[in-house]
Amino acid sequence: MDQVIDFINVNRDRYIEELKQYLAIPSISALPQHAADVRRAAEWTADALRTAGIPDVRLVETPGNPVVYGEWLGAPGRPTILFYGHYDVQPVDPLDLWITPPFDATVRDGEIYARGAADDKGQVFMHIKAVEAHMKKAGALPLNMKFFIEGEEEVGSVHLDEFIRAHKPLLAADVVVISDSTMFDRGIPSICYGLRGLVYFQIDVRGTKTDLHSGSFGGAVANPALVLAQILAQMKDRGGRVKIPGFYDDVRPLSEEERAEWRKLPFHETRYRKELGAPRLFGERGYSTLERVWARPTFEVNGLLSGFTGEGAKTVLPAVAMAKVSMRLVPDQHPDRIAELFEAYVKKVCPATVELKVTRMHGGKPWMTEFDNKYVRAAGRAIQKGFGQAPVFNREGGSIPVVSTFQEELGLPSVLFGVGLPDENAHAPNEKLDLGNFHNGIISSAYLYQEIAAV
Ligand code: BES
Ligand code: ZN
Repeated sequence: MDQVIDFINVNRDRYIEELKQYLAIPSISALPQHAADVRRAAEWTADALRTAGIPDVRLVETPGNPVVYGEWLGAPGRPTILFYGHYDVQPVDPLDLWITPPFDATVRDGEIYARGAADDKGQVFMHIKAVEAHMKKAGALPLNMKFFIEGEEEVGSVHLDEFIRAHKPLLAADVVVISDSTMFDRGIPSICYGLRGLVYFQIDVRGTKTDLHSGSFGGAVANPALVLAQILAQMKDRGGRVKIPGFYDDVRPLSEEERAEWRKLPFHETRYRKELGAPRLFGERGYSTLERVWARPTFEVNGLLSGFTGEGAKTVLPAVAMAKVSMRLVPDQHPDRIAELFEAYVKKVCPATVELKVTRMHGGKPWMTEFDNKYVRAAGRAIQKGFGQAPVFNREGGSIPVVSTFQEELGLPSVLFGVGLPDENAHAPNEKLDLGNFHNGIISSAYLYQEIAAV
């Protein structure tokens, strides 16, 4: 193992240069004009696995973007890891807020800046390099590994459930390993044992055939921008509670034990608030900030569009208004059930003065696991070796739709070992990854395979 770790230390700078190439591919899954780039990223990922010493790698087609599948099964009798990650990235707008271009990865102050640096190419690449170190120095992995790296995570992994159901023998394994989450804080590595689910909608409201002069017609018809605002305003009360009837019916209450554990975590609320630039924090009454984000569901407006928003003033009644909204879900809420409740409520609160269209988009189920299993303990030891510190256990507010599918369809537990940081601007301008965490993450991953091999 010493040789494997030495190899990783010696190659530290090379890894960064290679990662820059990966990050240069604008594999934005949400934008059809990037379809060729998305495929190029899939091929790049497959080549990187081959270079790492996994000869058996191919692209498997789906109705959407291809899955990169690879396997090395040279350790009969040992456990098999199914490694999951994603090579697609989020859109980059607003572009003018990036200090350096999103697909021209740049190192500043020990961090690499680019779209996908943390979410998730950097973290996928970290495992590929850990695999490479084992293959180069030991000529083998300490256990069997299957690689399952997809290209539609950022658009809800819509084809993946079907893919998993259709390829159960191919994906058979003992445990799933994922690095697509964040550490608790700088210097505090963590293992994530819960994710929120998601259900996403677009709401369109139409008031009239076309925009109208607000003097000639204002007062005669409903204003769709205002109607939409009124609809949205009825989604939450002033105490931060979602008002959709039945919304909380299936919410699993937080246990006193879990709350007590979280109170011990080194969370600095004032620092958190200041870093976000928020005048005050806001959320559901009766819960702490971590509880609200990790264990309570929420309704959020993701975007709003209506009327005149250019410079100056224009006296107009907009014909239409549009909002993108989503709800983060917790165990045991079900996206389909919540979607029904939401649609019914929007229809009920929308006045007859406008035409309403509600369109459901992607989503995913929440996930939570017992964290005291042998794989999680193995990951804890590996992180201790790589970061010089034992991890804390946390849940996350984000979603990775496929994790609950791994559990339900394949019966597999997942170990979520993420090395991103909460302030690394995932999905925002100036996304970055701390190169120290990247490096320690490669070392931890190399140890992780060895530790899991021995459970
Ligand atoms: N890496 C994130 C998920 C994540 C974020 C995990 C923060 C833990 C902490 C992932 O790439 C992501 O952004 N997922 C989407 C899923 C959605 C499009 C269905 C999300 O959470 O919005
Ligand atoms: Zn993401």
